[in-house]
Amino acid sequence: ISFQQNPWSAKGHRKDLDEICRNVIGDMDAYGVCVVDNFLGEDKGKAVLKEVLQLYDKGVFRDGQLVSSRGSGDLKTIRGDQIIWIDGKEKSCNNIQQLISQVDAVVMRANRMTNNGKMGMYNINGRTKAMVACYPGLGSHYVKHVDNPNQDGRCITAIYYLNLNWNVRENGGLLRIFPEGWLGDKVADIEPIFDRLLFFWSDRRNPHEVQPAYDTRYAITLWYFDAKERAEACRRYEKERHS
Ligand code: OGA
Ligand code: OGA
Ligand code: MN
Repeated sequence: ISFQQNPWSAKGHRKDLDEICRNVIGDMDAYGVCVVDNFLGEDKGKAVLKEVLQLYDKGVFRDGQLVSSRGSGDLKTIRGDQIIWIDGKEKSCNNIQQLISQVDAVVMRANRMTNNGKMGMYNINGRTKAMVACYPGLGSHYVKHVDNPNQDGRCITAIYYLNLNWNVRENGGLLRIFPEGWLGDKVADIEPIFDRLLFFWSDRRNPHEVQPAYDTRYAITLWYFDAKERAEACRRYEKERHS
C-alpha cells in the first residue's frame, strides 16, 4: 500500500488538540497506528531539532544495542542506533520538554475521551522517559521486533521524527510496520520526516523494523504505560529480584 493514500495520514495543516485526539482514537481503534504530521509546526520542531543536535554534539549518546551474554560468536547487529534518555528537565532541553508535554497532552486527553473505545481498554497513568535516538547513517538499522512482546506495561509507542528533507530513496531509514490483521500480509511504511508524530500499539500487534539509514536519522520516542499491566509487571520483577 502507499501510506500517503491512507485515511489516517493527516497532511498539511496544524490541528487543534481535540481534532488530533479524535484522529488518534479513531486510527488506533481501526488500525493500531496513527500518524500526525506537522505536530509542532516548523519553528518549534526546529527548536527541538536544535537541542537534539546540541546533545548529540556533546557526545552523551550511548549505543542502543542490547548486550547479549550468550556470546555465540555470531552476533548480528540488532540495533545500530545511539540513544540517550531525557526527562526534559535537563539543561538546554526546554523545547524537548515542551514536545514531551504536548505528546502527553494528546495521549492523556485521548485516553480521557474514550471510556469503552480501544484506547479506553487501557488506563494510561505514566510513561518512560524520552528516548532520543540517532541512527548515524552507514546502514545503521533496527531489525524487526516487537517493543513489548511480554506485557512489561508499555501499551503505546509514540515517536516524533526530526529529519528535514528526508528522502527514503536516498537516505533509507524507513520504519516498516507489519501489523497483525487489518492489512493482511501487507505492511505500513512510515517515512521518518520532520515534525511527524507516530503512534502505535506497543504489543505484538505491531512488529516493526527500521531499515538501513544512510544519513543521520533522529527521533524521540515515548512509551506510555497501562496502569494495570505496569503494576503487574512491576510485581513480577520484584518477585524475580527476591527469588
Ligand atoms: C510476534 C513476535 C517478533 C518479531 O509477532 O509475535 O514476537 O521479531 N515477533 O517480529
Ligand atoms: C525503537 C524503534 C523506530 C523508529 O526504538 O524501538 O522501533 O522509527 N524505533 O525510530
Ligand atoms: Mn521499536
